[in-house]
Amino acid sequence: MTVEEDQVLLSLSGITKRFPGVLALENVSLDVRKGEVLALVGENGAGKSTLIKILSGLYSKDSGEIRVRGKAVDINGTKEAQALGISTIFQEPSLAPHLSAVQNVYLGRELVKSVVGKAVRAMNEKEMYLETARLYQKFFPSVEDLHRPVGELDALKNRVIEIVKALSVDCSVVIMDEPTAALAEHEREVLFDFIRLLKAQGVSIIYVSHHLRELFLLADRITVMRDGKNVATVNKEDTNIDHLVSMMVGREISNHIVKEKVPLGKVVLEVSDLNRRGVLKDINFHVKQGEIVGIAGLAGSGRTETVRAVVGADPIHSGKVVVDGRPRRIRSPRDAIQAGIGLLPENRKLHGALIELTVSQNITVASIKRILGQRFVLKKRKETLIAEDYVKRLGIKTPHVNQKVRFLSGGNQQKVILAKWLFTQPKVLIFDEPTQGIDVGAKVEVYNLIAEFVRDGGAVLMVSSELPELMGLSDRIYVMHKGRFVCEFSREEATEENIMMYASGGHE
Ligand SMILES: Nc1ncnc2c1ncn2[C@@H]1O[C@H](COP(=O)(O)OP(=O)(O)OP(=O)(O)O)[C@@H](O)[C@H]1O
Ligand SMILES: [Mg+2]
Repeated sequence: MTVEEDQVLLSLSGITKRFPGVLALENVSLDVRKGEVLALVGENGAGKSTLIKILSGLYSKDSGEIRVRGKAVDINGTKEAQALGISTIFQEPSLAPHLSAVQNVYLGRELVKSVVGKAVRAMNEKEMYLETARLYQKFFPSVEDLHRPVGELDALKNRVIEIVKALSVDCSVVIMDEPTAALAEHEREVLFDFIRLLKAQGVSIIYVSHHLRELFLLADRITVMRDGKNVATVNKEDTNIDHLVSMMVGREISNHIVKEKVPLGKVVLEVSDLNRRGVLKDINFHVKQGEIVGIAGLAGSGRTETVRAVVGADPIHSGKVVVDGRPRRIRSPRDAIQAGIGLLPENRKLHGALIELTVSQNITVASIKRILGQRFVLKKRKETLIAEDYVKRLGIKTPHVNQKVRFLSGGNQQKVILAKWLFTQPKVLIFDEPTQGIDVGAKVEVYNLIAEFVRDGGAVLMVSSELPELMGLSDRIYVMHKGRFVCEFSREEATEENIMMYASGGHE
């Protein structure tokens, strides 16, 4: 064995995987070295998650070979993957909602207490709790949630529990499929510290993300996938973001955000004196026809809470919402839709597409009236044409529009939900992190669709943590800090520096 071979922990060669109508992986070969962070990038539907599911025992490969420490292995099921030292954080939520954090973390591998001389085997509850708490506390100071069913906890905590679960396994490689989706700033940092720690202990990490900047902080090498093939693996030092993007998409794309100035009309949405005790304080703002208004702020500043309050998803203690000059009582998202306000929420996977329905049904389901003909007969042909148009524009990767959404890749599911909201054509569309999980090529198309929506007379309110995106699209930006709107910038006034200064409380 050469030194080179000795450094390889995991080696894949010629991996191929076919689904009906889709060649998801074609002859993929790749080595993972001991103690390295190998990043995996590629457009939505490139095959990243499929590769990971094969390594984790969820999917079986059609052909090819997997070696662990030089030895050819078969991985049939997650237990076998774990036994080989492979631990995975999946892209989709994978916890059992009715079980507690501790039960989820140790599901299927409960610690057993052995009592010397007796055949008693009770579960070692205490040890499982302590280990779960030890890891969980790095993310959240309070551990009171560990015995509650995780279904009662928010998306962030669920994500952290999945991370804790993966980290608690004694393993030689940790695979992370978009682990930072749904994480706030602080939790991201904790995760990155864990990654560095694991690496220092000689554990290998496979890291999938659309956050190219994040990758450059973490990765040693980067593998680029396109259309199910491994196009290249490069050392981080030998590449840069533009180079990666061109390998990912295989064509030139413009990074330009295309918002042209549209003449503004009347005020469509006016929110005044919005309060939610302990969360939001005296929020006042408006959005005009033809306008894109951004909300900037750090994670936890109240951005998502603001938009959720506006559409009645969370209770409020006071506040007035006026749409098109009419005061509206909004107590639920359904009331909001009636009033002409649509919210495309953050963490869309959890709020779920209707995954058992097809792509075209998902796109039209919220606006079914628009495709009903006489006597309420569904115009199937019209539905198909509309869906095909969105599929083409957003580059939704699917064999046809009658595919169930369940079979689409994570990012492509998000694009379907985006299409659904655009097709409802409300007066006001609210976007919370519109391009989260969406690949770099499709982002531009999302921006174009948002711009088109306001050009046609819509009004947009947008929350985004990506400042270039927020500044590129917004006509005006409100900055939040600790549950308040602390200032407002016009497009011309907004710079990264002054937004960050107010967002971080530097003005106080
Ligand atoms: N169970 C399945 N049945 C049918 N097709 C599938 C299935 N799982 C994945 N696919 C298809 O295989 C291709 C690769 O999907 P995969 O989930 O690996 O993409 P990805 O690179 O992880 O994308 P994303 O960045 O959107 O998460 C896609 O075209 C997807 O629709
Ligand atoms: Mg994926």
